[in-house]
Amino acid sequence: MEAPLILLPPPSLLSIFRSWHYTSFMFLMNLLLAATATAVALANPTEELNSCLGHILTHRENIAVSGETFYQRWVNRYNLDIPVTPAAVTFPRSSQQVAAVVKCAAENGFPVQPKSGGHGYGNHCLGGTDGAVVVDLKYLQQFSMNRKNWQATIGAGTLLGVVTKQLHNAGRRAMSHGTCHEVGSGGHFTIGGFGPTSRQFGTALDHVVEAEVVLANSSIVRVSDSENQDVFWAIKGAASGFGIVTEFKVRTEPEPTTAVQYTYSLKVGTPKEQAALFKRWQTQVANPRLTRRFASTLTVLEHGIVITGTFFGTKEEYDTLNMDTQFPGAIGSTISIHGWLGLVTHWAERLVLDWIGGIPSFFYAKSCAWTPEDLMSSETIDRLFDLIATAKKGTLAWFLLFDLQGGRTNEIPTGATSYAHRDVLIWMQTYTINLFRPISQTQRDFLGQVNTLVTGNERPYAAYPGYVDPSLEHGAEAYWGENLPRLRRIKARIDPKNVFRNPQSPLPAEI
Ligand SMILES: Cc1cc2nc3c(=O)[nH]c(=O)nc-3n(C[C@H](O)[C@H](O)[C@H](O)COP(=O)(O)OP(=O)(O)OC[C@H]3O[C@@H](n4cnc5c(N)ncnc54)[C@H](O)[C@@H]3O)c2cc1C
Ligand SMILES: *[C@@H]1O[C@H](CO)[C@@H](O)[C@H](O)[C@H]1NC(C)=O
Repeated sequence: MEAPLILLPPPSLLSIFRSWHYTSFMFLMNLLLAATATAVALANPTEELNSCLGHILTHRENIAVSGETFYQRWVNRYNLDIPVTPAAVTFPRSSQQVAAVVKCAAENGFPVQPKSGGHGYGNHCLGGTDGAVVVDLKYLQQFSMNRKNWQATIGAGTLLGVVTKQLHNAGRRAMSHGTCHEVGSGGHFTIGGFGPTSRQFGTALDHVVEAEVVLANSSIVRVSDSENQDVFWAIKGAASGFGIVTEFKVRTEPEPTTAVQYTYSLKVGTPKEQAALFKRWQTQVANPRLTRRFASTLTVLEHGIVITGTFFGTKEEYDTLNMDTQFPGAIGSTISIHGWLGLVTHWAERLVLDWIGGIPSFFYAKSCAWTPEDLMSSETIDRLFDLIATAKKGTLAWFLLFDLQGGRTNEIPTGATSYAHRDVLIWMQTYTINLFRPISQTQRDFLGQVNTLVTGNERPYAAYPGYVDPSLEHGAEAYWGENLPRLRRIKARIDPKNVFRNPQSPLPAEI
């Protein structure tokens, strides 16, 4: 380490100085030091870190360190149930500045996590536990479209809502992604990224053809199928443990233009009626001949069951699916939507109705999955709805979501990207939410009971790494399955000191 040149005041004082005349402050400090001609050694790694960051990001809006007034506002936790305090939050404006921040953190022994939309469930973008250096990518929102091959270049701080608009404006193009506008491309394109079009186009990360990545040794590299292939493979499913993607290059598709949005709902109902509806839905989505233009989600909530989804086609085509006869007892409605932007807006609005969407709250979530060979038996479905009718849930705000996957996502080999769960036909996500108080043990236990019942504890456990469950034991195994050993070998080579980490990221393989 070089001998430090300046002595920094306590953080609170520092923030005052930063807000005005930082440069003249530095000038005065240097004068002062020159006058006394004594370089004072910095006492601890935190001061070393702050000093290092202070040299590369000098403006008030580019860095905030723990202890400052309003620090919590800069941290802005999405899941209020996980109280995490990072060592520093930085807002670099270029890949070079991202690399410089990584260097400061790594040299002083701090873990690093990038933050894009900040919508991860485990607050992993803040480190997941105290003391990380956060690299907030909000200034990295460059966009361009190559109109020859329709590949788009997207800064990794761009939120999904903005991605949709930019692709539309650049030639009516689209890609697969989830339905919440506030989710970030950084966390979404690197973990999976399912949405209504993924049965046709693949997941969001299947669109990524190239990326720029800052590695643990602070070098900036391009990664693709022909350059740094291992890193490319790792960032398509597990990026947060391997580097910071600063920019994506993605394949795009012509945007779908005509769609039917359908809803079938069963208000309350007996457990038997609910189970019967679920079985009909499972049979429908498990049909191997089901068109890929059909997306579907079944949601179980306190007041009943709702089946919603999008059919990409005309109302006439939709009518040939005979949906009205599929779900007896449920009340159906459809709206035809013309134009991609209108459709994406509709999804986002629905999401806010179904769930709280963009705003921070206290919540806990779990996930698991079924392959076509391995669906829930009729008896298990009956037992599930009996459990739902009788279990203590600790809140009215709980949901079980069953999402149809399959289609294109099933054709990609398990080893093609580090995202591993290619055989999944149905994902289940379960949520329990409080607006104003921490999640209780009763709430957690309910989700635990549901998972234990539906998985029967027999099959290998699969969890979606995009729905972080911080209390999952062996999280890395559940998230990356059979791709974990290769991830750990790559980790040992490119990040042996585990600079990029959160409580569930892959550990370097032992050599
Ligand atoms: C309301 C809501 C709706 C959702 N809907 C869907 C959906 O429809 N489909 C779906 O698949 N998922 C969905 N998700 C899950 C979502 O995809 C993940 O939570 C995703 O990881 C969030 O990305 P982010 O950038 O917003 O989060 P962040 O918290 O910023 O990041 C999440 C993780 O990714 C890492 N990361 C972020 N940026 C980068 C980068 N540039 N390079 C490397 N690592 C990075 C972070 O360090 C962190 O570990 C939803 C989540 C919410 C809250
Ligand atoms: C940084 O790490 C990468 C991946 O291991 C390696 O290819 C590169 O040479 C390293 N760069 C430097 C400057 O050490």
